[in-house]
Amino acid sequence: MSEFPGFPTSRPRRLRSHPLLRELVRETELSPRDLILPLFVRPGKGVRQEIGSMPGNFQLSVDTLVDEVGAAREMGIASFMFFGIPATKDATGSSALHDEGIVQQALRATRKAFGRDVLLIPDECFCEYTDHGHCGVLHTRDGVTDVDNDATLANLAEQCVSHVKAGADIVAPSGMLDGMVGAIRRGLDAAGFVHVPILSYAAKYASGFYGPFRDAAESPPQFGDRSTYQMDPANGDEAMKEVALDLAEGADMVMVKPALSYLDIIRRVKERFRVPVAAYNVSGEFAMVKAAAAKGWIDERRVTLEILTSIRRAGADMVLTYHAKDVAKWLR
Ligand code: PBG
Repeated sequence: MSEFPGFPTSRPRRLRSHPLLRELVRETELSPRDLILPLFVRPGKGVRQEIGSMPGNFQLSVDTLVDEVGAAREMGIASFMFFGIPATKDATGSSALHDEGIVQQALRATRKAFGRDVLLIPDECFCEYTDHGHCGVLHTRDGVTDVDNDATLANLAEQCVSHVKAGADIVAPSGMLDGMVGAIRRGLDAAGFVHVPILSYAAKYASGFYGPFRDAAESPPQFGDRSTYQMDPANGDEAMKEVALDLAEGADMVMVKPALSYLDIIRRVKERFRVPVAAYNVSGEFAMVKAAAAKGWIDERRVTLEILTSIRRAGADMVLTYHAKDVAKWLR
């Protein structure tokens, strides 16, 4: 020590010495306004069926969904993502396009109940509506059955227009099809909805972390997996390409999904493109926290706030999360 008088001269602990000082120098804030709560709507009345692998999250009918949005709104959450579980499924997912479809009904009812006090963001995809569980119509080429990219694009645009007519504020295509953003932009513009933004699931990985969601939305693929449209978890440069293409096609905001294993991607997208970035803290990430907390192995509140703060710190402006109501309660 003697050869370094006054050592150490730089003492980072100085700024950690007082709770108020720690608040003053805190770089990342977490607020309920940054959160988007995903909700699952199904036909019926008075339905509030808890999803086994996602405690505190429910399959709801339109009436109970309106109640749920109201309760979340009271807690400060303003933005909601809707997923539909339709009464009937078929090969093309045609029920997604009906103006009386389940998500369309949910949009109209929520819009009517809350006016401009909420942001409604339907997920735009077909996996919940097709009997085979893939994200679009299928075709068979060289003996291999797969999603027919271009045939699905027109349907996607039609689904979005129908959702906007029903009250959607933003559309969020999640199918990872080539050209989906451009097709939707053209479809919305032609229908007079030039003002409606697109939040593209631009970098969505073929992930094992979607497990519980597929129970929630009753949408597992009946054969194969989604690796021909969703991205390989090993790739990062490819995410930059996907984001660049979606922005060029007219995406207003881009999403990285899942969040936790992809914090590096969130950071790279934010630094490179400087556009609003969403991150999806997906069902499997949620379920892991809930399961470990139920066993008493982790402190749920502390871990959840740490996770969501970290996703924000990585560069996400907004986070889709099933923890939204818990977080809003804790931040109060
Ligand atoms: C598909 C879609 C999925 C999720 C959101 N949109 C599932 C999938 O791609 O298989 C997953 C969300 C989650 O796991 O929380 N339209």
